[in-house]
Amino acid sequence: MMLPDEINLMKRFKPTVFRYTCVNSTNDTAKSLWKRFSKEGIVVTSTTQRQGRGRKKRRWTSGTGGLYLSIVLTPPHRKNVQLLTFIAASAICQSLHNLFQLQPAIKWPNDVLIKGKKIGGILAESILGEIPIVILGIGINLNQKNFPPELKNTATSIFLATKKKHNQKELEEEFLNVFKDRYEKYCVKKFSLLLKEWKKWDMTKGAQAIVRTATGKEEGIVKDITDEGGLLLKTKENTLLLHEGEVTIHQLAGKRLKNNLKF
Ligand code: BTN
Repeated sequence: MMLPDEINLMKRFKPTVFRYTCVNSTNDTAKSLWKRFSKEGIVVTSTTQRQGRGRKKRRWTSGTGGLYLSIVLTPPHRKNVQLLTFIAASAICQSLHNLFQLQPAIKWPNDVLIKGKKIGGILAESILGEIPIVILGIGINLNQKNFPPELKNTATSIFLATKKKHNQKELEEEFLNVFKDRYEKYCVKKFSLLLKEWKKWDMTKGAQAIVRTATGKEEGIVKDITDEGGLLLKTKENTLLLHEGEVTIHQLAGKRLKNNLKF
């Protein structure tokens, strides 16, 4: 049975959406709105971004057609806070599956791919203070018909995958619905359940991979993803537990990369 406190936590996420046509970065606008309203559930969307940011200080190409969305969260605890990006990644996959019957895959920690090309990513930033505030920035390539030359081989969109144009608001609403359910489970610490959802889409476990971390490059077989979201990599010498890094997959579990149709 659930305690009254748990029931409150299960109903805590109530999104208020602020829509823009052009901002520098929806994450920055979300931060400013947090400073003004101090309210969990502020959601910012924008048709384009002038300075969209990706992980590892990369640029996130943000022309028309993409979904650019940021959410302000004030989780009631800090335990396994890194799982918030995992929740967002699995919520993207579930939404793409629900709406477009796509079979996306996640490359650890939270790159969403279709047939090996990136369709979505997540950038988590926090505001330090008395209570933990996390801004989750979500980028999904929705209706883009093409990408700049440097991204042509690595990025795709839902339009390119389905040959159809789709409604942005519909994707936004589906994503927020799926995300809400998972975030509320995070608030009551249902971590293993959330990781199980993430693992449904994971293509990293069992793969032969190179992981570039802040301190170097490691090569091996991905043995598992831990309950905290760490990656266990079995190298020739030993087994490493990695908390961050950029994974390049050479061979999927048991199959050659180029023959795999799932991702
Ligand atoms: C990644 O590198 O995979 C993360 C990309 C995150 C992009 C989104 S778009 C909305 C939000 N605003 C930003 O400036 N970045 C994130």
